[in-house]
Amino acid sequence: MDVTLDAIATYWDTHIHDLEIATAPLGSREFFAQLDKYRFDKLHYLPRLVNFAGYPGQSVLEVGCGVGLDLARFAQGGANVTGIDLSPIALDLARQNMAQQGINARLEVMNGEEIGFADNSFDLVYAHGVVQYTAHPEAMIAEMHRVLRPQGQAILMVYNRLSWLNALSKLMNVGLEHADAPVLRKYSLKEFRRLLAPFAQVKIVPERFPVKTKLHKGWKATLFNELFVGLFNRLPQAMTRPLGWHLMAFARKEA
Ligand SMILES: C[S@@+](CC[C@H](N)C(=O)[O-])C[C@H]1O[C@@H](n2cnc3c(N)ncnc32)[C@H](O)[C@@H]1O
Repeated sequence: MDVTLDAIATYWDTHIHDLEIATAPLGSREFFAQLDKYRFDKLHYLPRLVNFAGYPGQSVLEVGCGVGLDLARFAQGGANVTGIDLSPIALDLARQNMAQQGINARLEVMNGEEIGFADNSFDLVYAHGVVQYTAHPEAMIAEMHRVLRPQGQAILMVYNRLSWLNALSKLMNVGLEHADAPVLRKYSLKEFRRLLAPFAQVKIVPERFPVKTKLHKGWKATLFNELFVGLFNRLPQAMTRPLGWHLMAFARKEA
């Protein structure tokens, strides 16, 4: 594996997304329940846009599955799930998560830029918050496209460079989460669309508007929680929609 991918794996072994939010013992059922609750409170758009119960009997691959919160939701909806991630520690937690919930999942430490599965083998390939952290995003997209069956669907999320959060972080001089990761890219809508060129159909929806933070403390966090969140969310949606921090893409492979 190249040096950057090595560094990425090491980073995510020690910076698993949102882990610090859970207070229950590591790996317990309550621990994963807390992570799931936090994730779906913060990303309340996710179950609205992604039909986790919409793939019964179908094969779903999650690239960069982390501890497997979304993968578990697909499995609970009846999908046959496979999760891959570069981080062995995250994957180990994903195994514990599935075991706690009695879910049968195939989980493998694997590079999403070189997926070890056959062409045309999945109905859905999902990568939420992953492409922006990998070394060679074009390679990851090409692999996601390759393993999808004809007319299969890909769902991805990357960060929007032209968003409220990127602007606020610069204005308030507050670092973004995982800004210290070996790779962190942000995309404009146009750049993301270009990245998704291998797909036949692509729809991109900006999402993730301000919600109160639990991760940050101090006066900047108070100002954000008590003033900014309310004010921003009262602005007309037509104005704020393009500024969402998450660019969710729904793409289809050709027939
Ligand atoms: C921000 S976390 C997101 C985890 C999960 N998708 C979520 O939304 O909670 C990014 C994840 O992508 C994984 N990742 C980054 N590059 C990868 C690659 N080339 N192959 C597989 N996983 C990768 C990291 O190990 C990490 O677990």
